[in-house]
Formats: sequence, structure tokens, C-alpha cells
Amino acid sequence: MIPRARSLRARLVVTVLVLFALACVAIGVATTVALDRFLNARQEGEVVSSADRFARAQNGQLPRPPGGQGGPGGEGGGPGGSSFLGPQPPGSVGVVFAPDGPGGTSGTVVGAERLEDDGASTSALPSSDLAELATVAPGDPPRHVELAGGEYQASAQVMNGRIYVLARETGPVSDVLARLVLIEVIVLGGAVLVTGVAAAVLVRREMRPLERVAAVAGRVGQLPLDRGEVHLAARVPDPDPGTEVGQVGTALNRMLDNVEGALAARQDSETRLRRFVADASHELRTPLAAIRGYAELSRRERDPVPPGTAHALTRISSQAERMSALVEDLLLLARLDAGRPLERADVDLTRLVLDAIGDAHVAGPGHRFIPDLPDEPVTVQGDAGRLAQVVANLLTNARTHTPEGTTVTVGLRSGPDGGALLSVRDDGPGIPPEILPRVFERFARGAESRTRAANDTPSTGLGLAIVAAVVSAHGGTVSVDSVPGRTTFTVGLPAGAPVSTTVSVPV
Ligand SMILES: Nc1ncnc2c1ncn2[C@@H]1O[C@H](COP(=O)(O)OP(=O)(O)O)[C@@H](O)[C@H]1O
Ligand SMILES: [Mg+2]
Repeated sequence: MIPRARSLRARLVVTVLVLFALACVAIGVATTVALDRFLNARQEGEVVSSADRFARAQNGQLPRPPGGQGGPGGEGGGPGGSSFLGPQPPGSVGVVFAPDGPGGTSGTVVGAERLEDDGASTSALPSSDLAELATVAPGDPPRHVELAGGEYQASAQVMNGRIYVLARETGPVSDVLARLVLIEVIVLGGAVLVTGVAAAVLVRREMRPLERVAAVAGRVGQLPLDRGEVHLAARVPDPDPGTEVGQVGTALNRMLDNVEGALAARQDSETRLRRFVADASHELRTPLAAIRGYAELSRRERDPVPPGTAHALTRISSQAERMSALVEDLLLLARLDAGRPLERADVDLTRLVLDAIGDAHVAGPGHRFIPDLPDEPVTVQGDAGRLAQVVANLLTNARTHTPEGTTVTVGLRSGPDGGALLSVRDDGPGIPPEILPRVFERFARGAESRTRAANDTPSTGLGLAIVAAVVSAHGGTVSVDSVPGRTTFTVGLPAGAPVSTTVSVPV
């Protein structure tokens, strides 16, 4: 797999490779330059001594090779030589000049010869070579010349008034350098390649623990931690505290322990609070019923009571009624919050809607209720009592928060995946815009509902919160769309079994 260009892994491998390749190039260049200098210096020395040998051979200071051919090997030159050149390595070129002008280097060619590669036979030189060699001045350091036979290094000596120029091939030095460069390219190139593969493998292996840490963090990041009971089972397996990555893993594990503890404490206190609200609501039911009963009883008293007392009794009665409704709603919400399992049965929504409309007719004769139902009955799996309450709450709102004469349409459709789509629409004044965004929150209610006079249906601000809680416990969704003259609540219910609100994520 080719790592992504920006991944840490790829960058590490590329960095190592680039550094190593730079080091290889530096080593290669340094070696080549050093060897080049060394070989050149050595060759220059040899050319100088070859020129000296040439001059001395010409002046009879060296024993002539037997038969004018062959001879003792020159230093570094191998066996070979001629009576003209003296002992020289094969390929050597020698020219004797007689200077014609004072101090001039060029002059008449007295003799010239090239020792062939076999080290014995000789040949004449082309005039271009003679002209080139005539430019080599005695006393100068050896220099490069280009002759017909290739690259040469030449040196000149003066002896007995004549100039002896000797040139030797530089081929051997170039060959050695070329071979060195070739070897360097192959060896260092191979080393770069092997290093690249090894670096990729090693970096990958070293990165694996980091990937495990990232995977754990990623899994935890996907857990819904905001509500319900949460088990944070994900942990980095056996982090090695000796390594940096291991320390990150250990720190992450410790953080998860901490978070898990905090979540458990949060869940614990939530549970206790819910139980308290449920218990309190439950405990309040009985005394409230008693208050209502006694108020009712007193109002029916035959003996005349003062008008003030009669009014007080009516207020006591209606406020107790309102408080009962509040307590019932609170109890229901507390139970829904606790994630108490819902009943699961086939619920005929069509029937349920028709019953609710019937009740609404009786409660609000001044409103028009229009069912908009399909011929086929629509059913879902769920808790019939709770779903009836959803429809009742929506219809109550459409009745109590709108003026008489308002038309309320209740629509029901089969959802695309076998679920159901329920809508309650009215052409009333609409939900006040300031509470519309949080209309499903607890105790969110319009100013008008707050100040509403005694009513058959007291306003608690919990009706829509209950709708939202029941629908979400069924795994459904609820939404509202409201403008003056058109308010629509839409409830989507899935066909399947209701889901529990307790969150538990095994990892
Ligand atoms: N159909 C509706 N038309 C106008 N206002 C509505 C409608 N339904 C709900 N509301 C507004 O939303 C508020 C919250 O509704 P709800 O939670 O049922 O509380 P409650 O009905 O007890 O006041 C209501 O007080 C009311 O102001
Ligand atoms: Mg309501």
C-alpha cells in the first residue's frame, strides 16, 4: 500500500530516505573526488619520470634494451619500451624537438614515436599530434593534451639543448574512476532502496500502537455519552509505558477510567433524581385527590355558604385539578425518562385517531375536527396507551390554544418503511414565535396559556414534552411547523418494536 502523502508514516519514510540518499551522494562524491586527485597526482609523477627516462634514454644514459626492443618495465608502466623511447608503458608517445628560437618551445621535430599497445611495436605520429605536443613547455607541470589516440598527459624535459616531450594515456585513470562511479551507483542505489523498504516496514510497525490508540479514541468518540447508562469498555490494550506511544495509550486509558467514573456518577444521580420525582409525584396523587374530593364535597353543602367562601372553594377545586394534571404529567415523564420498557403490541392507529377525535368533539364542540384517514387501517408496534396520549395531547393543544371555529385536520398515512405518519393540523393563530424553537421542552408554554382562566384542560407546559418523550421511546420523530393560520405537528413512527432509551454500547 502506498501511504497517503501527508501521513506521518509517509513523511517519516520520505525524510529518512532523503537524508540517507543525501549522505550516499556525499560519500560517493567525496570518494570519487579523493580518488581522482590521488590517481591524477600519481599519474603526473609517473609522466614526469617517464619524460626523464625518455630524455636519458635518448642521451645514452640508460642501458639500451636488447635488440632495440622490449626492456625492463618502467615504474607503473608494465613491460615494454623501444630504443627510441626507452622503457615505457604501452601507448606512450615521445617527441624530440630541437628548439629553433631562443626560449621557444616549438621547434623542429628531431624524432617522434608511439609505443603500441602490445608494448613492443612502434608507429609514427600524425602531424596534429606533433603540433599539440610542441605546446608542452619544459618546466611546466604535466598537462592534459588531446592526441589522435585519445586523452594524454604530457611532460617536457630539456637535456643537452633538446626538448623531450613524453605523453602517457590517461585512460587507465578514467577507467578506474568510471568503474568506481558505477560501483557507487549500484551499491549506494541498492542501499537507498533497501533502506526505503526497511524504513517503511519499521515505521509501520512502530506506528501500529499509535493506530490502536487512535482506534480506541475513535470508537469512544462515536459513543453517545450524553444520556443514559454508558459502558466505556474500549481501552488501549497493554500500553507499554516505556514508549511515548505507550504513554499516550496509558494516559488515554486513565482518562477513559475517569470519564467512565464521572458518567456512572452522573447516571447515578440522574437515576436518583428521577426516582425522587416519580416518588414525589406518586405521593402527591393521594392528598391531591383528597383535596379535590373535600372541595367538591364542601361545594355541594346544602347549607348556604358566604359568596367569598364559595368562590374560594371553586378556586381550590380548579387549582387542585391543575395540580393533579401536573403531577400526572410529571409522573409519566419521570417514568419515560427512567427508560421503563414500553408495552409492545400491534396498535391500530386508525382506531386510536377516531377515538381521540370523538373525545375532542365532546370536549370542544366549537371546533371542527376532520379525520383524513386511509381506507386501510394503519398499525404500528408500540404502547397503545402512550400513543393514545400523544394523539390526545396534540388534539388538546389544537383545541385549547385556538379560538372556537378553528378547523383541525388529523391525517394518517402509512410510512415508506411500514411505519406511520401522523399529522395534526389547525388553522388557528399559530405557536408564538418566541417559544416555537423550544416548544417540545418541559414547561415551555405561551404567555396566553399561562394566564388562561380556569379551563377544563389546565395548561402545564408538559403536553408536548410528553409527546416528544413517548415518540422518541418508540424510536420515532416529531416536528412542528407553525405560521399564523397553519400549524402542523408531524409524528413519524417506525413499524418496528420500540427501542429502549437506555444506552449501552458494547465495544
Ligand atoms: N396548536 C397550537 N396552536 C397554538 N399554540 C400551540 C399549539 N400547540 C401548542 N402550542 C403552544 O405551545 C405551548 C406548549 O404546549 P404544551 O407543551 O402542550 O403545553 P400546554 O398545552 O400545557 O400549555 C402551549 O402553551 C402553546 O402556547
Ligand atoms: Mg398541551
